Amino acid sequence: MSDATTALYPAPDSVSKGAFVSGMPAYEKLVAEAEADYAGYWARLAREFVEWKTPFTKTLDESQAPFFKWFEDGTLNVSHNCLDRQVAAGLGDKVAIIFETDDGKVSRHTYSDLLARTAKLANALRAQGVKKGDRVVIYMPMSIEGIVSMQACARIGATHSVVFGGFSAQSLRDRIQDAGAVLVLTADEQQRGGKQLPLKAIVDEALSLGGCESVKNVIVYKRTGGNIAWHEGRDLWLHDVTEKQPDTAEPEWVSAEHPLFLLYTSGSTGKPKGVQHSSGGYLLHAAVTTKWTFDLHPDDIFWCTADIGWVTGHTYIAYGPLALGGTQVVFEGIPTFPDAGRFWKMIQDHKVSIFYTAPTAIRSLIKAAEGNEAVHPKRYDLTSLRILGSVGEPINPAAWEWYHQHIGGGRCPIVDTFWQTETGGHVITPLPGATPLVPGSCTLPFPGIQAAVVDETGKDVPWGQGGILVIKKPWPSMIRTIYGDPERFKKSYYPEDFKGKYYLAGDGAIRDAKTGYFTITGRIDDVLNVSGHRMGTMEIESALVAHTDLVAEAAVVGRPDDTTGEAICAFVVLKRPRPTGDEAKAIAKELRDWVGKEIGPIAKPKDIRFGDNLPKTRSGKIMRRLLRSVAKGEAVTQDTSTLENPAILDQLGQAY
Ligand code: PRX
Repeated sequence: MSDATTALYPAPDSVSKGAFVSGMPAYEKLVAEAEADYAGYWARLAREFVEWKTPFTKTLDESQAPFFKWFEDGTLNVSHNCLDRQVAAGLGDKVAIIFETDDGKVSRHTYSDLLARTAKLANALRAQGVKKGDRVVIYMPMSIEGIVSMQACARIGATHSVVFGGFSAQSLRDRIQDAGAVLVLTADEQQRGGKQLPLKAIVDEALSLGGCESVKNVIVYKRTGGNIAWHEGRDLWLHDVTEKQPDTAEPEWVSAEHPLFLLYTSGSTGKPKGVQHSSGGYLLHAAVTTKWTFDLHPDDIFWCTADIGWVTGHTYIAYGPLALGGTQVVFEGIPTFPDAGRFWKMIQDHKVSIFYTAPTAIRSLIKAAEGNEAVHPKRYDLTSLRILGSVGEPINPAAWEWYHQHIGGGRCPIVDTFWQTETGGHVITPLPGATPLVPGSCTLPFPGIQAAVVDETGKDVPWGQGGILVIKKPWPSMIRTIYGDPERFKKSYYPEDFKGKYYLAGDGAIRDAKTGYFTITGRIDDVLNVSGHRMGTMEIESALVAHTDLVAEAAVVGRPDDTTGEAICAFVVLKRPRPTGDEAKAIAKELRDWVGKEIGPIAKPKDIRFGDNLPKTRSGKIMRRLLRSVAKGEAVTQDTSTLENPAILDQLGQAY
């Protein structure tokens, strides 16, 4: 990290004045309030940010730790909080979403519109027999319909599980099966970068793979009108099922602990885990972080560029901004279509004031701008911006500086928000009107979050020394369990090493010796972060060895990449002699396509290296540290004397 005392960017007056959390004393006051009365602090916020049908009387229940419960006897409805509440407050005609399609068509959707559409779909789902507690899988493009699908599930108390539209049929099948979904909401096709890509066809394939007998219906949003197969009796058009439904629907009032959604994410084993979130605690954190981290005011135009298939799109598109009655931009397409100026043009066109994106996008747009003056941000009027955000992976100081200078005009604070699918919302982040910034640091915990850096025994390490990132106390929006696998939840997040006391994030961190600012040093498990997407190395290895005709053995590691943060590097032993030249290239392509089919295009290895063998110790353990050096192209300095067959290091030197 750069020296925190010399590289500080103080919160500018233009943002600090009038901010919800204005100045460090205001931040410190909130931290002190939470320290003095932890439950009381969250209870106060829960009363302020959430409208309860029945008020809760108990804040935190730790009796079944680590299965914590928050506000359990309170009842609420999340969709009511996001929509009806705004309409009742006189915001019915306020634009909730400015939607821009891939090909640049813009439509505006008010809170009243969204409420009516949500109610119609909620009624339609009920008419298909979907009830409280049922799971519904959403495999949708970025669209109003996608967001309305999530809201409609919330309205009837069905637990949604959104699957990113880039996942393959196999991955989709695994998620549908694990969740035991009764219904799938999808679209005929999605349109991205000028291309139509299948969705419904992938759902058909997923359901044909077997194991999804729980699914009774597939509801299809007609996005492109492309050709699709139709299964009479199972498939229904969204427009048909909603057309005649009334535009009001009584919300299902649920306990604060009722599962709002499952979201599958990668862990250390081959099988993705269904992270289960609550209703009350989750909504509270979505709302309070949207308000304080982004300083979202009623006249702001907020734009989070994430997809609803990831947690960022849940908390900072589908729930947080709506819970506050904000106005946001939702974008169907990709940052490089029709050219790499698309984001900047959209900020200009919609007068976006708060912009939240991922370092990968920034890095690729820097490259594009450097190569082509026409898409340089200076060609656009970005003066509407007042706050910038970053999420998903560490932002390197060079990208931070460029973002600050070229997008933020040197005047917009950048909130580098650290969090995870499991945390539900920001846990370590600057507050833009308060926290002085240091490029590359996510700075300080959100008020009320007890983040710390400890050693293997759970003891605090001194500032300036690296260690393991933990959160010492439960917080309202934390993961409740792994769906169907409570033991895995305990093992993954509350392991015995820490006596089951602390939440283990899975990341390493270091605190600045002088300021205590946190810098995340990367995952400490077998999880990679490729373009801000979480991928398990074991998941990719399993996919490779599933190609039983070709692959005998595979090991996957990450290596640093200038654009994507990390890149996937696979070491493969084939069931035939080690290929070279054109044959190796052809097999590498076949394996990439295979992984794309097994998991999805985001999991395709960038490098594939073939060996007669993998480097193993004499006791048969794959030497992963050594593979990481090879993947980086570093000279191998490790002791290779324990290596069974040192000659294979030469073979692995060539990447295809
Ligand atoms: O390694 C951390 C990294 O992304 C992981 C969480 O990934 P996921 O659950 O997919 O959620 C991404 C969106 C919240 C973390 O364990 N990560 C996320 N944000 C940051 C980060 N690493 C460094 N700095 C961040 N701001």
